[in-house]
Order: sequence, then structure tokens, then C-alpha cells
Amino acid sequence: MSVRRSVIVGCGSYLPSRVLTNDELASKVDTSDEWIVQRTGIHERRIAAPGELTSHMATQAARAALAHATVDAQSIDLIVLATSTPDNTFPASAVSVQAELGIVHGAAFDLQAVCSGFVYGLATADGLIKSGAFSRALVIGAETFSRILDWTDRSTCVLFGDGAGAVVLEGQMEPDNREGRGILTVRLRSDGRYKSKLYVDGGPSSTGTVGHLRMEGREVFRHAVAMISDVVEEAFTTTGYTAKDVDWFIPHQANKRIIDGSAHKLGISPEKIVMTVDRHGNTSAASIPLAIADAVADRRIKRGDLLLLEAMGGGFTWGAALVRW
Ligand code: UT7
Repeated sequence: MSVRRSVIVGCGSYLPSRVLTNDELASKVDTSDEWIVQRTGIHERRIAAPGELTSHMATQAARAALAHATVDAQSIDLIVLATSTPDNTFPASAVSVQAELGIVHGAAFDLQAVCSGFVYGLATADGLIKSGAFSRALVIGAETFSRILDWTDRSTCVLFGDGAGAVVLEGQMEPDNREGRGILTVRLRSDGRYKSKLYVDGGPSSTGTVGHLRMEGREVFRHAVAMISDVVEEAFTTTGYTAKDVDWFIPHQANKRIIDGSAHKLGISPEKIVMTVDRHGNTSAASIPLAIADAVADRRIKRGDLLLLEAMGGGFTWGAALVRW
């Protein structure tokens, strides 16, 4: 028997050229390369150039994903852009990407679930494709967190970076067995009781300003591993797979300690972890598609591999996906 699945047929990414090192940060705020590396695993991050917007980076990543999939932009009928740092309050940055790609049909919208945005975006596009409403989608994560950081707050400004990643999802009939490719499950969670643990202190309806990122890092850290493990176990239960079946673990890249802790709790061996936090920092919704593109570019990820994706962030929101590449 075969079933309609959303298959990832291509991926791509974009990073701004400007590299911001820990040492450079240490010359601006009271921190050190040693503290940042020890507590987070981050060595450097990228920062968007003046005038370089989220939609610009998203468009670059989308073009790279289209090229990798060898499909024409005109065949895309859905664009889901996960971001918490859109160009403007509205319209959605996704419509700017759509216009840049010369697409005048289908639908494009932004999705906001902070660091879990890409997993939420995958779930949304997967549902719309499986329903038959759309046939080929771009799911993009793109962020310019550098624009919402308080650069005098050492507890947050050292953690984040800018960038974009994208995948092309296509509706295909696949065998309903372990060989079948595509998104096998996406599990999503949120709990608004934690909304003040990681937030931006501004917005159109509250202050009329954009605001700055505020985080009780220790509190987020305290919940992260348990929430991630919980939702990943849910994905395993839904599909019948276990940690042993996973070829590549591609987590949201917030902190190497959270990633290592989650992998350990789940029983995933260290060599299966795709890690980019050292070079990218935390790029929020962009981090998973950036990591996917990295591991595809260097040929670690091969057709037929089972990928485990997971993320946790502001809200709190969290989620996990199992994907047969
Ligand atoms: O992607 C969305 C989800 N976000 C996350 O997953 C982030 C989760 N949280 C974390 O990754 C970690 O909590 C942090 C990396 C943010 C902080 O690490 P920590 O081990 O939890 O450190 P802490 O907040 O407990 O701070 C330890 C000390 C404090 O000093 P005292 O109070 O012990 O004297 C901080 O003031 O480190 C100090 N500190 C710094 N020192 C040097 C905080 N930031 C810095 C800094 N440089 N940049």
C-alpha cells in the first residue's frame, strides 16, 4: 500500500558573511571566550549586514534549496516562513520571498513559534500537502535576532546569530512501510505558563516598539532536556521507531550542553549528532534547516536515512519530527 507523504526533495541555507567572534564580544561586554565556549559551545556567530533583512536571507536559502531540488520556483505553491524577526510587523516576510522568487500563485505566510518555528512550519506544510491542497512547498526558517538583542546584556547577546535555511517539500505517493520517504510524524507542544521565561519586551499591540529579547536562561535550561525528551519519545511511540533507528539527530542549536544532555537521555550516540551551534550560535527558527543543509552538503545525510529533528524555545513551544530522507 502507498500513502501520500511530504518528501524533502532539497535543502539550502544562507549565512551572512560577517563573523562575530567571542573575543570580539568580550571587548564589548563583560564576558570571555572561555565562559561562552564552556557554557554554550558557541565559538562564533554570523551577523546580518546593515540593510540585510530576514526576507533577503530567506530568499537566498530558498533559491539554494530550489537549486538543490532541481525544481523551478514556479512549481512552488506554498511558502511557510518560520520567523520571530520579520522585516515588518506586516505583511508577512513570506510574501516578500514569494515576490522575489517571481511567484504569483499559491499562498505564502509567516509562522511564529520562536525557536520551534521550523518544526511547526514542517507540521503545517505537511498537513496542507497531505490534504492535497498544495503540492510543493518551501518551508523556511530565517532570523535576524541581532536586531532584537540587547547588546549590553551579556546573558543573552552572546548566544544568538543570524541566518536562514530552507527545504523543498513535495507531495509524493510513498510505500507505507519502513522504506517510505518523507515526514513520518511531527509532534508539537506548547505551554503558555512559561511565556515570561523567554520573550521580547515590545510589540505592536503592547508598546508599539519592537523590543529586546529577555530570557531567564537557567529556567529555560532547566526545562529543555525534559521537554525535548518527552516530545521525541512521543514521536517514537507514534511511529514505532526507537533511538537505535535514528541515523542523524538534528536538534535546534541553542546550547551544546542541552543537545548533549538530550542525546544522552534519549540514548542517541554522540557521533549521530549534527552540531552547528559552535559556528552559528542560536539562530532560532533557522537553526535546524541550517544544520540539515550542512550535513547534506558534506554528504553525511544520505537518501533513506532516518532524521530526528527537535526544538524547544519561547512560549514555551517545543516539538519533534521524524523524517525519512
Ligand atoms: O533557543 C531557545 C531556548 N534557549 C535556550 O535553550 C537557552 C537556555 N539556557 C542556556 O543555554 C543557559 O542557561 C545559558 C547559556 C543562557 C547560561 O548558562 P548557565 O550555566 O545557566 O549560567 P547561569 O545563567 O546560571 O549564570 C552563571 C553565571 C552567573 O554569574 P553568578 O550569578 O554565578 O555570579 C551569570 O551572571 O554566569 C554569569 N554570566 C556570564 N558570565 C560571563 C551570564 N552570562 C555571562 C557571560 N559571560 N556572557
